[in-house]
Amino acid sequence: MEHPLTKCTRMFFLLGMVMIELQSYGSLGCWEDERAGLMKLKDAFDGPTGSSALSSWGGGEERDCCKWESVVCDNATKRVSQLSLSYPSDFRNRWSLDTSLFLPFQELQILSLGYDTLAELTNLTNLEMLHLGDNGLMEIPSSIWDLTSLKALSLSGNGLNGLLPLRGLCKLVNLQELDLSDNSFEGKLPAGLMNFTSLRLLELSKNKFEGAIPSNLFPVLKSLEYISLSHNLFEGTFSFGSLANNSKLEVFELVCDNNGLKVDTENPPWTPLFQLKVFRLSNCKLNDKSRVLPSFLLNQFELREIDLSHNSISGMIPMWLVANNTRLEFLNLANNSLTDPLTLDLNSTHLDMFLFDISSNHIQGELPSPISSAFPNLMTSNLSSNLFQGSIPPSLGELRVLDTLDLSNNNFSGQLPEHLVTGCAYLIYLKLSNNCLQGQPLPSKSNVTYLSSLFLDSNSFSGEIPRGILNSSGLRTLDLSDNWFSGKVPDWIGDLPLDSLTLSKNALEGPIPSGFCKSNGLRLLDLSENNLSGVVPSCLNNVSYLRFLHLQRNEFRGPLPNLTSLISDSPLVTFDIPGWINSFSNLRVLLLGGNSFEGPIPLQLCDLRKISIIDLSRNELSGQIPSCLHDIYALEDPFRTQMSASVSAWFGPPDSYSYENQLDVDYSRDLRMSETNFKEEVEFITKSRSETYKGNILNFMSGIDLSCNKLTGPVPDEIGYLSDIHALNLSHNHLTGPIPESFSNLRQIESLDLSHNSLSGEIPLQLVELNYLSVFTVAYNNLSGRTPERKAQFATFDEHSYEGNSLLCGVPLGRRCTTTEEMSPPPQPSYAIQDDTFKVAFLSTFWPTYAVAFVAIIVILYYCPYHEYLISM
Ligand SMILES: *[C@@H]1O[C@H](CO)[C@@H](O)[C@H](O)[C@H]1NC(C)=O
Ligand SMILES: *[C@@H]1O[C@H](CO)[C@@H](O)[C@H](O)[C@H]1NC(C)=O
Ligand SMILES: *[C@@H]1O[C@H](CO)[C@@H](O)[C@H](O)[C@H]1NC(C)=O
Ligand SMILES: *[C@@H]1O[C@H](CO)[C@@H](O)[C@H](O)[C@H]1NC(C)=O
Ligand SMILES: *[C@@H]1O[C@H](CO)[C@@H](O)[C@H](O)[C@H]1NC(C)=O
Ligand SMILES: *[C@@H]1O[C@H](CO)[C@@H](O)[C@H](O)[C@H]1NC(C)=O
Ligand SMILES: *[C@@H]1O[C@H](CO)[C@@H](O)[C@H](O)[C@H]1NC(C)=O
Ligand SMILES: *[C@@H]1O[C@H](CO)[C@@H](O)[C@H](O)[C@H]1NC(C)=O
Ligand SMILES: *[C@@H]1O[C@H](CO)[C@@H](O)[C@H](O)[C@H]1NC(C)=O
Ligand SMILES: *[C@@H]1O[C@H](CO)[C@@H](O)[C@H](O)[C@H]1NC(C)=O
Repeated sequence: MEHPLTKCTRMFFLLGMVMIELQSYGSLGCWEDERAGLMKLKDAFDGPTGSSALSSWGGGEERDCCKWESVVCDNATKRVSQLSLSYPSDFRNRWSLDTSLFLPFQELQILSLGYDTLAELTNLTNLEMLHLGDNGLMEIPSSIWDLTSLKALSLSGNGLNGLLPLRGLCKLVNLQELDLSDNSFEGKLPAGLMNFTSLRLLELSKNKFEGAIPSNLFPVLKSLEYISLSHNLFEGTFSFGSLANNSKLEVFELVCDNNGLKVDTENPPWTPLFQLKVFRLSNCKLNDKSRVLPSFLLNQFELREIDLSHNSISGMIPMWLVANNTRLEFLNLANNSLTDPLTLDLNSTHLDMFLFDISSNHIQGELPSPISSAFPNLMTSNLSSNLFQGSIPPSLGELRVLDTLDLSNNNFSGQLPEHLVTGCAYLIYLKLSNNCLQGQPLPSKSNVTYLSSLFLDSNSFSGEIPRGILNSSGLRTLDLSDNWFSGKVPDWIGDLPLDSLTLSKNALEGPIPSGFCKSNGLRLLDLSENNLSGVVPSCLNNVSYLRFLHLQRNEFRGPLPNLTSLISDSPLVTFDIPGWINSFSNLRVLLLGGNSFEGPIPLQLCDLRKISIIDLSRNELSGQIPSCLHDIYALEDPFRTQMSASVSAWFGPPDSYSYENQLDVDYSRDLRMSETNFKEEVEFITKSRSETYKGNILNFMSGIDLSCNKLTGPVPDEIGYLSDIHALNLSHNHLTGPIPESFSNLRQIESLDLSHNSLSGEIPLQLVELNYLSVFTVAYNNLSGRTPERKAQFATFDEHSYEGNSLLCGVPLGRRCTTTEEMSPPPQPSYAIQDDTFKVAFLSTFWPTYAVAFVAIIVILYYCPYHEYLISM
């Protein structure tokens, strides 16, 4: 029986011919009813939000609706055949669209709808392609299953879950393209999928499919051109050879999340009938015994994109992949165990190559200079974390369109070639950290005007901070730490729109320049471990976005002015930590230790409600510990606080490249470089090593270090209410009075150091309830009475925790409490041994991440006594 609509269509078709004839003198290209229909659609789409997504429709002179944006008509009938009504992604208000609006479009074949719900789609019987991506659908409208002419269906990016709706899908017997990515479908891949023998595209990535990938599935689906199974929960072993006879296959993607799926590409031996264009097999257990590169690649000559990152592949770096696949655009071999040689055929050029990532391998030797003639259009090059040595070839400056270059963590030496920073004029991101480079990095001729992130840290660069940096007027992240830069901090540094400035561990001297004050978007400022002196400029009052401030281990002196007025090198009579710090209301980490700040701890410190690490140790602070300190933690639990600064440098992807299928699945979308978040680093130094803690680990840290000052008076009871604190060091002051009983509330505390004060009275017995305590010392005070019971954590503390209190008795001290005899002189404190033993002891009892955070704190706590120990020697 003939479908009534078909008859109707034919009638319209005939009618259409007549009308076209009639209208042939006018300029009307499209059908009046369809134009009216489009105008109604436009109104509907302007919708409740008033966003005029299709504002151009009907607006101008153009009456022919076939020429309107997003409308495609059939050439012969002039009827609308394709509509794509996608919204910009910020449009998320849900409202429902009256599907009868589509009824005027009798011949609509392709309908692509962006963000919104489409309730019923019945009667669109000619529809061949339906794109319902990102519509917030929680279930599939059952009317879809009646659209039996559908050849392509996309339901990606919705909230769909449960098992695959096979029963409905099976009605779509003509289906060639199925995109269900980015939902929450679950269960095993059903055998029923074998019925879709005309399927060309199967996109199932980012779901929760589990179980093995059936090896009898693909031999049946002979038409497949595109398979993506990435980011699911598959397990078992997938035999890649089961794809051998899929002669049309062009794209294969399987990015695992290292959940336990093994992929075997070698056994049993097979020969592919396909020539892939895109091959991504990343972070699965690839050939986990032999660790060989998939050998079928020897027969592939049309590859454009290869991603074999995170696979533990060993052997020599397969540069023949580049030679064999002359149109290669993208090669990512990061995080394997590949070795050299990195040889490049001098004669071959690969014009299409834009990304070359061989980072985190074991490649040594010099970087071959022909890399720039072989890949003249390279945009992203990541050679970091290898064993490269020798100089950076000046020919890299020939890479005219390079925007991202990462050579960090190698052994490159010599100078940074001038040609690199004059030739690569489009560099956005340059990272040379942790090499052995020397000299002046950016000459005044430097022409990297688009540079946004520059990392030169941990090299041997020297001289003044190079003025050439100023040519990169859009610089947001600058890290020059751990070099030999000397001289003054230049005044012009404030002209750069910096988010993050790290100048620590150099030999910079003099005051912070007044020009610095022009920079007002700083989130991280690290000037620590230089010889900077003078006052900290008052303009820091306005740095309201600051999250991390490190000024420790300099020679800064007070008063640090509250006003914009006085900036002076002249010796000052009064020294104060100024009130200005309370304007840093977002401050999370305040490291001011090892300067010469004097005067009392200002009460404004207590206004820094978000702070979780305070280091004011090794200054000349006097007066009492302010009891308001407990306010800091009252509002915010550092465990719940996201500490990582959100300053991020995102490198835009190179123009991504679309697989030519009708759904226009962008097959390189996940290959884009992931957002690299700028992560805060906190470094603590021990006698012989420095350790760095980055990013999230800071979430687990909270501590106050006021050690090595001249603080007097009692320890305020209120400190005992800092219930989230993990480390507290008040040692090496002149504190008097008892240890507050309230300290038994410090439930999270792991390290408590009250040594080298003049505390008296008894040790509160309730302290034994502190179950996380692993470092505890009250040595060298005037405490009396009994040592706490040796149970729980207290069973682990030896006499070093108590020594130097002549009136204290009980185990582990040698003095029994009933007698008054003198004990033998205490052994010398040996912190050098202690900090290692504590570390070991701690590591063995707690889970690792936590342990590292903890060790960091221990390290600060022990720095100070060591420091003094040094001085006393
Ligand atoms: C319709 O016409 C345009 C231009 O005249 C042409 O590019 C296009 O291929 C035609 N489409 C069909 C389906 O014939
Ligand atoms: C869809 O078509 C059926 C007949 O096939 C008809 O009864 C129904 O009214 C149509 N729906 C709309 C909304 O026009
Ligand atoms: C697949 O096709 C077979 C035979 O054509 C049929 O028996 C089976 O029910 C189909 N599977 C599904 C899930 O529809
Ligand atoms: C591919 O086809 C060959 C020849 O027909 C056959 O021997 C082989 O088993 C097939 N391989 C797969 C994986 O289906
Ligand atoms: C490197 O690859 C291994 C798997 O081979 C993975 O477990 C690890 O997380 C990867 N490392 C990085 C930094 O991605
Ligand atoms: C591809 O590379 C392999 C390994 O070097 C080589 O044996 C083969 O001849 C190359 N094929 C072509 C067409 O260059
Ligand atoms: C480069 O090409 C020239 C001439 O075409 C040839 O003589 C030379 O051997 C080639 N060099 C390499 C390294 O292939
Ligand atoms: C380069 O690779 C390393 C390790 O694979 C990675 O951590 C780093 O973020 C990459 N660099 C860039 C600029 O993406
Ligand atoms: C700097 O780069 C620009 C392109 O961004 C170029 O036009 C200009 O000639 C370069 N200047 C020098 C001195 O190299
Ligand atoms: C800063 O100085 C101004 C003017 O001298 C004064 O009014 C203000 O109270 C000061 N602020 C702080 C926090 O000391």
